[in-house]
Amino acid sequence: MMKPWKAVKRLVPMFAMLALLLSACGREDLSVLRPQGPVAEGQLGLIKLSITIMVVVMLIVFGIAAYVWVKYRRKPGQTDIPKQVEGNHKLEIIWTAIPLVLVLILAVATVQKVFAFGEDYSKDANAVKVKVTSHLFWWEFTYPEYGITTAQDMIIPTGKKIALELKTADVLHSFWVPSLGGKTDTNTDGTINKAWLEATNEGVYLGKCAELCGKSHAFMEFKVKAVSQDSFDAWVEAMKAPVQTIQDPAVAEVFKTQCLSCHAVGDQGGPIGPNLTGIGSRETVASILHNAEASGKPIDGKPVKDNLVEWLTDPQKVKPGNKMPSPKEDLGLTDADIEAIADYLANSKLSY
Ligand code: CUA
Repeated sequence: MMKPWKAVKRLVPMFAMLALLLSACGREDLSVLRPQGPVAEGQLGLIKLSITIMVVVMLIVFGIAAYVWVKYRRKPGQTDIPKQVEGNHKLEIIWTAIPLVLVLILAVATVQKVFAFGEDYSKDANAVKVKVTSHLFWWEFTYPEYGITTAQDMIIPTGKKIALELKTADVLHSFWVPSLGGKTDTNTDGTINKAWLEATNEGVYLGKCAELCGKSHAFMEFKVKAVSQDSFDAWVEAMKAPVQTIQDPAVAEVFKTQCLSCHAVGDQGGPIGPNLTGIGSRETVASILHNAEASGKPIDGKPVKDNLVEWLTDPQKVKPGNKMPSPKEDLGLTDADIEAIADYLANSKLSY
């Protein structure tokens, strides 16, 4: 037998470790326990229903067990074998029927919610349609009704259904915004999954990739920024407005040949990398470098320009395994180019 103090000595570090680990789960905008829309509320309802059923079953079973242990334990001097019972028809029916009923209650509620949250609102005139494409390790959001594409920050109006069509550009990822709803896989077989979300209140909600997809899976974050309908309309207009170009012709040429071959800004550039229109107003750079200017700030950030310089100087250091070529080593950008491009992008802001 281990001495009690020895057991305590072993357990204390374990509990300290657990406390430390779990304390990281408290990020305000990343909790299924603080639902911010009808889908997340429904999902929390399912969690509560199943926990309630489990707790009630546990209390009854443990209660009966404790009663039997105490009441029928061997009395001092008792040597005879108790009365042997073999089978009890009534009891067997009861303990088969009760779990069946409980499983049925859970099944009906779950199936009903699964279908309700997978409902296709892409034909609903009142819903905002967003096509979500997952990439190693970033998220692309296209708004077909408005002809705009953005990355990393999904801007939505509050109080409206957001009809999502989800697909992947490479491997299996999973779209999850804990405080709004999800998770929905982006399949590799070309099938498109449909889901919807709605945010009741304005705010910035953290989204995660919920499927192990590679080296930077844990950094494959995004934000859902819920704003008023007026702000949303202003954002759409700002996204479509003509963009400022780089003044210095030499830097503009580097930007055009090396950056716009993959990325788009306004109506210039390509669709391979994240669209950079208005990147100066985003919550983060590369989803994990938090911007000091951002509106939803669970973490203190650095100025967006500093984050852009950090990213452009060595993208692999920030997000290992990502597909961005090294601006310095592969594309031949100088520190001065990076500084100028970071400055330009940091000032590429949208007012909404
Ligand atoms: Cu994408 Cu994990």
